[in-house]
Amino acid sequence: MAAMIPTPPTAVSPAIPAPQVRLSVAPMMDWTDSHCRVFHRAIAPHARLYTEMVHANAVIHGDRERLLAMDPVEHPVALQLGGSEPALLAQAARIGADWGFDEINLNCGCPSDRVQAGRFGACLMREPDLVAESVAAMIGACAVPVTVKCRLGVDDEHRFEVFLDFVDRVAAAGCRSFVVHARNAWLKGLSPKENREVPPLRYDWAYRLKRERPGLQVVVNGGIADLTEATAHLEHADGAMLGRAAYHDPYLLHRLDVAWFGGAERSRAELLRSLRPYVEAQLERGVFLKHIARHLLGLFHGERGGRAFRQILSEGAHRPGADWALIERALALTESFAARDAA
Ligand SMILES: Cc1cc2nc3c(=O)[nH]c(=O)nc-3n(C[C@H](O)[C@H](O)[C@H](O)COP(=O)(O)O)c2cc1C
Repeated sequence: MAAMIPTPPTAVSPAIPAPQVRLSVAPMMDWTDSHCRVFHRAIAPHARLYTEMVHANAVIHGDRERLLAMDPVEHPVALQLGGSEPALLAQAARIGADWGFDEINLNCGCPSDRVQAGRFGACLMREPDLVAESVAAMIGACAVPVTVKCRLGVDDEHRFEVFLDFVDRVAAAGCRSFVVHARNAWLKGLSPKENREVPPLRYDWAYRLKRERPGLQVVVNGGIADLTEATAHLEHADGAMLGRAAYHDPYLLHRLDVAWFGGAERSRAELLRSLRPYVEAQLERGVFLKHIARHLLGLFHGERGGRAFRQILSEGAHRPGADWALIERALALTESFAARDAA
């Protein structure tokens, strides 16, 4: 590996404000749309939220109203971009910042075939100079933090120095915040789903990165399943990003928010009822309940009545005319379980 000659960046990205870096919800395609983020905001007022990945070309040429839809309550919210052409990424970053996003994040972790064919996502881990060039162009194009979400490496590349060299080159281009999905991506032979489960997690690499580069913000991601685990990461890194656990058990997000930022714990029903004005406004605009309800299904995860709650919503929300009354019906059922347990 050639020795790195750091070149001073032309501009340095602002860091993410410290309290906002602690807790975040991962970007997840088909999941973290605007409805999902509004729901997560209601239950975790301090979490940093991320959009699904949007390709730079789509931002530039596509239907922005649809692709970049965002509700003002979502802040702080980051737009995640896919792509590998510096000029296009810069243009898309500027559009995203003008649209109101608080951060622009570059995806260097997605392993799908489609993404590999387009030469972006995780395969960019092999092209640190292109990522550095892209990040420098994005930083030059907008005033919000430009950040990178990456893996530890790809395929059978397991040298910490190579990972550190990737980070150093990108940091030398001005990037100060890295979300580390703490496992390799295996680009051949594994589906994206398997790539989130099979390559072993190495949190120690993210911790070591923070130790060796204390000036960078390092957020740990991958396999964080509960409050104790998430809290343990804060001993070694600046933040924890949760993906699947936050989606499937959103109340965990609420408990994390309360544990780390204070405030009183609110019940699941109370949190959900706080969403009523949003849901009714969306229905009024012609949005179908099913598009919102699908993100709510895990709210009573692990609770008595949780399965019935999920069933009522997933079956009923598809029916024509489904409205808030369906959610009240599902809630009433969980409340009847709770009342029976208390009796
Ligand atoms: C359905 C789904 C879609 C995902 N889409 C993206 C994406 O668009 N961009 C990205 O960087 N990561 C994506 N990921 C990966 C997550 O952001 C995260 O890195 C990964 O799930 C590991 O975190 P977790 O174990 O907490 O879920 C996706 C994950 C899932 C489950």
